Amino acid sequence: MDNKLEKVASLCKRRGFIFQGSEIYGGLSGIYDYGPLGTELRHNIKQYFWDKFIGERDDVYGMSAAILMPERVWEASGHTELFTDPLVECKICHERVRADQPEAISDHEAKHKKDKVEWSEAKVFNLLVGSKLGASEATASQVYLRGEITQGVHVNFKNIVDSMHPKLPFGIGQIGKAFRNEITPRDFLFRQREFEQMELQYYIKPDEEKGKAAFEYWKNFALDWYYGLGFKKENLRLRQHAPDERAHYAKDAWDIEYNSSFAGWKEAWGIHHRGDWDLKRHSEYSKVDLSYYDEESKEKYIPWDIECSGGVDRAVLFVLLEAYSEDELGGETRTFLKLNPKIAPVKTAVFPLLKNKPELVAKAKDVYTLLKKEIPQTMFDDNGNIGKRYRRQDEIGTPSCVTVDFQTLEDNTVTVRDRDTGKQERHKIEELDEHFRKMLK
Ligand code: GAP
Repeated sequence: MDNKLEKVASLCKRRGFIFQGSEIYGGLSGIYDYGPLGTELRHNIKQYFWDKFIGERDDVYGMSAAILMPERVWEASGHTELFTDPLVECKICHERVRADQPEAISDHEAKHKKDKVEWSEAKVFNLLVGSKLGASEATASQVYLRGEITQGVHVNFKNIVDSMHPKLPFGIGQIGKAFRNEITPRDFLFRQREFEQMELQYYIKPDEEKGKAAFEYWKNFALDWYYGLGFKKENLRLRQHAPDERAHYAKDAWDIEYNSSFAGWKEAWGIHHRGDWDLKRHSEYSKVDLSYYDEESKEKYIPWDIECSGGVDRAVLFVLLEAYSEDELGGETRTFLKLNPKIAPVKTAVFPLLKNKPELVAKAKDVYTLLKKEIPQTMFDDNGNIGKRYRRQDEIGTPSCVTVDFQTLEDNTVTVRDRDTGKQERHKIEELDEHFRKMLK
């Protein structure tokens, strides 16, 4: 792991963001659990996706499909046949790694130091994670934990058309877990076996011009959304896939990439022109007609799908890498997360200047109760001295802290300290909600 990635992973464990899955039993590779602060951060990112892609629009519906789906769905979508990665086996220790990942190959070769690793021929390996459902072996049916959340939307296309009567173009958005038996899970949250996706399937009339315009629109919309998480201009870019890089369902594909500290430009998000691939295949395999009747033109056709597909955990990882900062403040080195206030897990923390002065503690609790009603992600802290409390909040990215001191008891003002500059200002208590409203805009 590179140095910054290691520091972020260590901060995540130390401060209750993210832990190795089932750690006390030795951990499970490519599986992570989110602690209290990580869950808040992830929730804020998902909420921001839901607001912008679904809630604030009148042409997109939200839905939430099941994780388990029958084998037939994945045959129709092409995943049982084509959702594969090339795998090679080390002839010395029999460990298997992805053949198309030079970092995985060189990391493995480094383990054997002087011995020359002889690799087997590359084989294809299917990434779907399967299971059986049913009480007896004879009747149990093969199911798969979804390899992408997408198929839950496509198989419900007719249900949504019949119940909501949308006019094209319209979209269906969803957030949820996906599972892939990745050969080489690596780089902390970057490549996991269980992860979360946030997606939009946007259905349009099949037409080359309309397809191009919708593709351009969603590419830019997704990039703007990503910038809204707080990235520097130069750290994001759009890159088109070469034809041999595209997934089996894509006519055109672009990635939003992040300039990562650990391996240069890495995929954050995919925008795919899926054409009529999914609805057509599900029509064929299910024998249910998934074409759309266009009232205006009196035509019946299978719509095309423009897809925006982002990884929630990758957004969490890239946001943390982008925000991770070290500087000197008051003659001391400090670590802080320069998180956009909108997604910070704690928006503000309220402290009494001294823990052993009951009048300060009581007043600080009053201010905390007042703020908590307006801003649920508010925290109270009276542990250790004030300097340590500021450092702890800086490390978890709290944008602004409120301290109740002796002057507060006289004039109802508090100090408000800014995370990035360390500067403190006095504010009237009754003006605090206005201050935070502005900060969160
Ligand atoms: N429905 C389209 C689809 O799933 P994808 O490019 O395979 O496309 C979309 O995945 C996004 O999901 C990626 O851009 C990435 O952010 C995230 N993702 C994919 N595989 C992942 C993994 N193993 N671990 C974490 N995130 C992953």
